[in-house]
Amino acid sequence: MTFTGHHAPAPGGSPLVASALTKVYGSAQTATHALAGVSLTVHPGESLAIMGPSGSGKTTLLHVLAGIVTPTSGTVSWRGEDVTTLSEARRTVLRRQDFGFVFQSGQLLPELPAVENAALPLMLAGTARAEATAVAARWLAHLGLAGMEQRRPGELSGGQAQRVAIARALVGSPGVVFADEPTGALDQATGAEVLDVLTRATRDSGAALVVVTHDAGVARHCSRTVTMRDGRISGEFFAPGAQPAASGAPQAAASQAAASAAVARPVPPAPAPPAPPAHDAATQQAMAAHPAAGYVPTHPTAADQESAR
Ligand SMILES: Nc1ncnc2c1ncn2[C@@H]1O[C@H](COP(=O)(O)OP(=O)(O)O)[C@@H](O)[C@H]1O
Ligand SMILES: [Mg+2]
Repeated sequence: MTFTGHHAPAPGGSPLVASALTKVYGSAQTATHALAGVSLTVHPGESLAIMGPSGSGKTTLLHVLAGIVTPTSGTVSWRGEDVTTLSEARRTVLRRQDFGFVFQSGQLLPELPAVENAALPLMLAGTARAEATAVAARWLAHLGLAGMEQRRPGELSGGQAQRVAIARALVGSPGVVFADEPTGALDQATGAEVLDVLTRATRDSGAALVVVTHDAGVARHCSRTVTMRDGRISGEFFAPGAQPAASGAPQAAASQAAASAAVARPVPPAPAPPAPPAHDAATQQAMAAHPAAGYVPTHPTAADQESAR
């Protein structure tokens, strides 16, 4: 199923590249270093989970990547522009045309039916109402909400409301969808369903997904996971079969490869990647399946050494 919006991604897609981001809140005495030097590339069509403890800087990073918050230093380049130095007016247009957003809850307008809530970004961008609601209705149906187009948010379950929010994030054919704790207000089973819908629908649309979550289950749905601690990226792992970024390769070549891979297959199956030193996704899965199978980490942690005694 393909959807054509007014703002289809550029052919081949382009990466979102963040370099050396810092964000300091407060003045000298009360300074909080929410971001302490983050560099990150979001490749076209990939699904990237950002995990980490509360206060580690996940939301700040998401907001800086999406042009909602200006960093203290560093750059975010997207389609040839540095998002961090654009005028507020230009950033508003960019957020509306190129990005989609899903938040924890409470983002739908209570007085509007589901289909109009979903159609809102298109209508704001000037698409005629009939066309906008037709596109929105197709997305609602794709997300399992056929027949619920006229319901108001108060007449939907939490999981259904999040599907409407996902439809709204996707109607404009964004290049990147940003989701901040999209399942935070849902029970575990509903949250898992919503994550599944979010990752699959985003992939179907051709957009990249950046999803911030506490939910360890999210890694199963995403092609890559990075963990954060104290404003820094503390770890990264790939889903089995997902392609690791060619670290060290020239940026242009790497993004070119990612772009062409994303056209054919947003989550490209690839030869098994070289195993990272320890705790890669495949190993973690194996550990979960065989908790007593005598797993020996390549680089034992203190906890591993403790439990081996
Ligand atoms: N607007 C703000 N003003 C001051 N401090 C903030 C603001 N937003 C976030 N912080 C602080 O920055 C740090 C990172 O916050 P945040 O990015 O929300 O983390 P997370 O999403 O991982 O919980 C925290 O210490 C938080 O208190
Ligand atoms: Mg947060």
